[in-house]
Amino acid sequence: MTIPAGHVSNVREIITLQGHILQQQAHHPEATGTLSWILSALSISAKMIASQVRRARLEDVLGQVGGENVQGEQQQKLDVIANEILLRTLGGRQGVAIVASEENEEPVILRNEREGERRYCVLFDPLDGSSNLDVCGAVGTIFSILRQDRRAARAEDSLLQPGREQVAAGYILYGPSTVFALTIGAGVDLFVLDPAIGAFVRVQQGVRIPAAAKSYSVNEGNRLTFPDGYQRYLAWAQEQTYSSRYAGAMVADVHRILLKGGVFLYPPTRKAPQGKLRLMYEANPMGWLVEQAGGKALAAPGERILDVQPTGIHQRTPVILGSPAEVDRVIHHLAP
Ligand code: AHG
Ligand code: MN
Ligand code: MN
Repeated sequence: MTIPAGHVSNVREIITLQGHILQQQAHHPEATGTLSWILSALSISAKMIASQVRRARLEDVLGQVGGENVQGEQQQKLDVIANEILLRTLGGRQGVAIVASEENEEPVILRNEREGERRYCVLFDPLDGSSNLDVCGAVGTIFSILRQDRRAARAEDSLLQPGREQVAAGYILYGPSTVFALTIGAGVDLFVLDPAIGAFVRVQQGVRIPAAAKSYSVNEGNRLTFPDGYQRYLAWAQEQTYSSRYAGAMVADVHRILLKGGVFLYPPTRKAPQGKLRLMYEANPMGWLVEQAGGKALAAPGERILDVQPTGIHQRTPVILGSPAEVDRVIHHLAP
């Protein structure tokens, strides 16, 4: 299209996730492209997992005879399938040193540090909220990327960095559409998968979480076993006629809160005294995304999730995150 001299084009550009990553890389002349390759592996994984998720119940039905597929392999649960997709796509990237997954007890060391090379660790929850699949509810994938710490004594120790050290984080929501949310520390950008062309297309840059919204997201079935402060908060919020919204998949709940505001809580419970959610591949990446969108993410009053020093890759943490004013209201009620 030719634009007459003196006119400014009002054509909105179309940018794919791939193009976006290249644009970001151009802002960092020191970048070697290693991180971009890792993000592209995550984008391919997301498309592969999305296509499996779409066929969830069909595969059950079509593969029911003896529980085997046409290759004679046992049918696997989607948690395992999603995990394998991520391990295989990331495994091919030279820049990935170690991966850690909710589905693997131990981290997988892919390659050791070579002098002069920058390598990364990738931590992920391959399928978040997977019990929602039985009822065609939303599920997701969450990931967190750290630099490999050259000072760590053992390769796996280099994973145990606080969330503030993340270099990239994001989630993929497999809902009515497939949404990819990404931060590399310069705000949060959103992409939607266009199945017709097989690419994630950028739909929003610099997402800002609403400062306040009368909405909370928590499993209220556990209410009577929450610490008193959380119970006081819920009683207060209900007096104010707050809305209650809970998908049972952190990705779906946090996505809603990023766009519409409110607060997401997973407090300590009798069953899970440290909370249920995992610090390194659920709370840290989600906490950073929320902070990058202008929200707050705390593990306890005065304690940012991103400042928690991890001691194990599967450790759990309480989570309070969302609109800054709503997080403050929860904290206000937690004071004795
Ligand atoms: P996962 O499916 O990866 O184990 O995660 C489920 C998590 C999270 O997505 C959700 O917020 C929470 O568990 C729901 O737990 P409750 O059923 O205890 O509310
Ligand atoms: Mn999860
Ligand atoms: Mn999971």
